Amino acid sequence: MTLILGLEGTAWNLSAALVSEEKTICEAESTYKPLHGGIHPREAAQHHASEIKNVVSRVFRGAEEGVFSLDSIDAIAFSQGPGMGPCLRTVATAARALAISLKIPLVGVNHCIAHIEIGRWQCGTKDPVVLYVSGANSQVLAYRAGRYRILGETLDIGIGNALDKFARYLGMSHPGGPKIEELASKGTEYVYMPYVIKGMDLSFSGLTTAAKDAINVHHHKTEDVCYSFQETAFAMLTEVTERAMAHLGKDEMLLAGGVGANRRLQQMLQTMCHDREAKFYVPENKYLKDNGTMIAYLGLLHFKTGDTTPIDKSAVKQNYRPDEVEVTWREQS
Ligand code: ATP
Ligand code: FE2
Repeated sequence: MTLILGLEGTAWNLSAALVSEEKTICEAESTYKPLHGGIHPREAAQHHASEIKNVVSRVFRGAEEGVFSLDSIDAIAFSQGPGMGPCLRTVATAARALAISLKIPLVGVNHCIAHIEIGRWQCGTKDPVVLYVSGANSQVLAYRAGRYRILGETLDIGIGNALDKFARYLGMSHPGGPKIEELASKGTEYVYMPYVIKGMDLSFSGLTTAAKDAINVHHHKTEDVCYSFQETAFAMLTEVTERAMAHLGKDEMLLAGGVGANRRLQQMLQTMCHDREAKFYVPENKYLKDNGTMIAYLGLLHFKTGDTTPIDKSAVKQNYRPDEVEVTWREQS
């Protein structure tokens, strides 16, 4: 059995997990909650620095109760990027210290691919088109010839950030996505919103501005604006995902990332997949949002193909793109 400890802390959630080929053995987390406004990278990093000892100790204690000893851990995996620089550096430092003191290898993993692989693992889907939607990211991806290829992506901000910004404008605390979802469920009237797709790419920042104007200038009801925001943004995401599936002739679709928890987005994608006789997969919410298990699991996939990260190659990569990673654990296709 292979045992990997994974550390995640690219943004708001600090999480550690111990994972084997079969399951998550133990996971612990600590969430940074901004007092005002959005996530402040240095404050989030300070949160991670002060909590990491506690979070890792909780995993070690849990593992010992489950009769796993520290010296049976094979490697330490960590999110090498993308993410907020100060957060990434804090967690990478902890990962290096653990790897050195336990005398085991380090495995730097790509956070976006971790979102994909945890979904494939949990849902048992083999070769899906992936819609990865989170705070900072919005991408449509599929695997081909040794890489996850980005078929379409946002040209400006991620859909989660667009929702969070609008929620902040409405005076709601971070994260705003779930609160907008709640308000949107009470909306009845569609208010015009810009639907911006360029080729296979998307743009969301105009949507946030239009939503603010709809409230401020045109005095539409908040619920209707939230509803229209979601309908527009999610239809854009569904359109691009469907086009990717049609071009590639794939009949599986996987939803990944924190925004994937949204029931309306799930419903639209489900309908699209049903109409084209494709299968729609979405993991449980705890595996959609940032979590240590996904980092440990991707670390395990890398480790089993002999792919580890020497300390001098372990610098963080703030803009690490998923297509930079050579996928060594999947069959070529
Ligand atoms: P990444 O580094 O991958 O961009 P992240 O730091 O944004 O990750 P995630 O947990 O993947 O973290 O996603 C968080 C985002 O998900 C936030 O923008 C939050 O508002 C959004 N979100 C969470 N639940 C919902 C929901 N029910 N509806 C819409 N958005 C949601
Ligand atoms: Fe994420």
